[in-house]
Amino acid sequence: MKRTLIGLQWGDEGKGKFVSYFVLQSSGKRLYVIRYNGAANAGHTIITQQGEKIATHLLPSGIPFPNTYNAMLCGMYIDPLKLMLEIDGLKMQGYEVSPVNLGISGLAHVTLDYHNAMERQDEKARERPIGTTLSGVGPTTVDKYARKGIRFAEFVEPEAFRRLLASRKAEFEAKGLWDKVERYDDIYVCPQAFLKQFLIDEAELYKSGENEDWLYEGAQGVLLDIDYGTYEFVTTSHVARPPHDTDEVVGVAKAYVTRVGGGPLPTKMEQDIEEKIRGARGTVDAEYGATTGRPRSCGWFDIPATKYAATLSGTDKMALTKLDVLSRVPEIKVCTHYDCKGKKLQSVPANRFDLEQCKPVYKTIRGWPGIDISNAREFADLPQTAQDYTKMLEDLTGCKIGWISVGPSAEQTILCSR
Ligand code: IMP
Repeated sequence: MKRTLIGLQWGDEGKGKFVSYFVLQSSGKRLYVIRYNGAANAGHTIITQQGEKIATHLLPSGIPFPNTYNAMLCGMYIDPLKLMLEIDGLKMQGYEVSPVNLGISGLAHVTLDYHNAMERQDEKARERPIGTTLSGVGPTTVDKYARKGIRFAEFVEPEAFRRLLASRKAEFEAKGLWDKVERYDDIYVCPQAFLKQFLIDEAELYKSGENEDWLYEGAQGVLLDIDYGTYEFVTTSHVARPPHDTDEVVGVAKAYVTRVGGGPLPTKMEQDIEEKIRGARGTVDAEYGATTGRPRSCGWFDIPATKYAATLSGTDKMALTKLDVLSRVPEIKVCTHYDCKGKKLQSVPANRFDLEQCKPVYKTIRGWPGIDISNAREFADLPQTAQDYTKMLEDLTGCKIGWISVGPSAEQTILCSR
């Protein structure tokens, strides 16, 4: 079985939780967990079998589980210094990270220190800052498409690395960056030597893993996709599609929506409700960025946006997350469509200024305030109003819900067999 997990909103839908769920479902059989997009901008939270909370940024979320092989493939942007820190951190917590359970494609592009510097300048110069994670992803992508990037296979070979940097000396000098770049031999010597052991041939991996189970783990969400997202407030990688055809695309959607950084969130909640949903910083399900710690804006479930994302990503079934969080509010709103300058819209308009004019039109339903649903394991265990809510989301998006998450651990999942 080859499965893809794709976020259907603006990232942070809880994809990491579903990686652990599918890893544990694979009951001992080895699972390939594959990252194919994004960079250190991502933040996936995983609760391990031992109940330990781990946040990964670059590493695939399968890494703390013994029955996985994890790979970082083409389409990712890898900051070697951040990757070293992430690997060190996990090893210090007692997890294995070695070529036995991790491979990095020679085709993935690397993010270097100057990319971070360029991004800071770029954000400052913008009329409307994007509110990026300042992970250097944008400038790395620009280099890749300008055919000036450095790939992982070249990064781990000091001679090739030096040669590629030197070929851009005049350009770096003009930008006042050459003094820094010239010292890269010192800065990157350790990551080059250490990370080389993880280098793999991507084509070989596809061949050797042909008969294995694969889980492609998307980072961010379709509404942040460089092409399909709410441009210009998007990331710079392709979120909506895995590199290969898969048997099943699972679209992960939160029972409400969140967004961090700039850009429109049409269904943003009233402040008092938003604070209840966001929760207290430091609590396990609080809505603060796993990478930057910024508070996330919270909004009601947005049907036009989620339906649009499900269609463009080829979602077969949805996995609904954080339904338990809605126990905190007496009433729940669902945005059924937008009113855009007097016109009814059921999708996300491509014209960014139209999107800014979109007013959500809501249906309000009764919630299940104060009822703890975190122990529900069957659909029938849910209060009637919670059942009605999920059925309504299915009807309005036209997409079946296959799983409902009622808490952060893998066991807190309802498999919907309706
Ligand atoms: P960048 O990917 O750092 O360039 O940021 C572009 C936009 O995507 C910003 O609004 C970020 O907050 C957002 N973003 C990037 N990665 C994530 C993520 O993993 N979760 C949520 N938002 C993200």
